[in-house]
Amino acid sequence: MAEQAGADAGSLARRLADLEEGLAPARPEATPGLRILGYGEVSAVLVLADVPGLVLKRMSGFADQRAAETYGELVTDYVAAVRSAGVPVVETEVLVVRRTGRTPVTYLVQPEVAGDRIGHSIMRTADDAAHETLLHRVLDAVLAVREKAAEDVAVDAQLSNWYLAPDTSGPPTLLDVGTPFLRRGGRQAMDAEIILSTAPAPLRPVFRRLGTVHAYFEDYFEPRTAAVDLLGNYHKEGRPDRIDAALEVVNQWLEPLGASPITRRDVDRYYRSDARLLGFWLQARRAERAVRLRTGRGYDFILPGRVRR
Ligand SMILES: Nc1ncnc2c1ncn2[C@@H]1O[C@H](COP(=O)(O)OP(=O)(O)OP(=O)(O)O)[C@@H](O)[C@H]1O
Ligand SMILES: [Mg+2]
Repeated sequence: MAEQAGADAGSLARRLADLEEGLAPARPEATPGLRILGYGEVSAVLVLADVPGLVLKRMSGFADQRAAETYGELVTDYVAAVRSAGVPVVETEVLVVRRTGRTPVTYLVQPEVAGDRIGHSIMRTADDAAHETLLHRVLDAVLAVREKAAEDVAVDAQLSNWYLAPDTSGPPTLLDVGTPFLRRGGRQAMDAEIILSTAPAPLRPVFRRLGTVHAYFEDYFEPRTAAVDLLGNYHKEGRPDRIDAALEVVNQWLEPLGASPITRRDVDRYYRSDARLLGFWLQARRAERAVRLRTGRGYDFILPGRVRR
C-alpha cells in the first residue's frame, strides 16, 4: 500500500515536472488539458485532464531548492497543527518540482472536493437556516484552532476555504493551507520573502522594511478582523443581503472573546478598501509581468484575468 502510494507520488512528480517544462504562466490557456479552478494572491489552483480527481496548487517565487523544501515542511507542520485542534484538513501532499535552469516550484496536491459543498457556494444558495448553521460551524472551527491546537496557529476564516461534507454536523474541512499562519516563539514562521516575491520589484524593499507581510499575517490571529474579512466577502459573492443575519451570528460568537461588536458599516467599509487594494495589487502585478516579458525575463506567476469585485 505504502509502495503503491510512493509510486503514484513519483509519477505525479514526473507529470508536474513535464507540466512545468511546457507551461507559460502568463498564458496557461496554451497548455492543453489544463484548467484553472481558482486564483489566490500567491497560488493558482490547477486541474489537469489526465490527473482526474486531484487539484494542484502551484506556488512559485522560491529563491532556491532549500526555500521550497522549508516551505513544504512548514505546510506539513501547519496541517498537523490544525488537525491537532480536532479540525479536519483535506489530505495535502507537498511536491517540490525541480526545473532545469530555473528555481523550483511547489505543488500542494489535494483530492478535488465537490464545489457545491464549499462554504461560499452553500452561503450563496442555501436557505437561511442552513446558512446560519454553516456560519456557526466555520466560526466554531476557527475558535477550536485558536484554543486547542498544539501550536500557535490561525486559519483564513473565509467561507471559500471550507468544505462541508453532506449529512454531518462535525467541523468543516479546511482546504486552504498554502499560507501557513503559524507562530513560533511569538514570530511568524513562514518566510516573508515567499510572499514578497509576488510583489512588483520596486515595492519589495518598502514592504520588507515595513514588515508588511508578517503584520498582515497577524490579522488572521485576530478573531474580529478575520470575521470582518469573512463577512466582506458576502459582497463579492453577490449576497450582501445576508450580511445582517450573519452579523448577528458573528457578534454572538465574538462576545465571549471580549471583542467589540462588528457593525454593518465596518463590513462595507472594509470590503470597499480591500477591493480597491486588491485591484491595485493585481494591476501592479500585471504591469510588472508586461515589463518582464518585454525584456525577455519571463514571469513565473499565473495571474487572474479581470476580477469582478
Ligand atoms: N481540494 C479542493 N477541491 C476543490 N476545490 C478546491 C480545493 N481547494 C481549493 N479549491 C477551490 O479553489 C479556491 C482557492 O483555493 P485556496 O483557498 O486553497 O487558495 P487561495 O485562497 O487561492 O490561497 P492563497 O491566496 O492563500 O494562496 C477555493 O476557494 C476553492 O473554491
Ligand atoms: Mg482561499
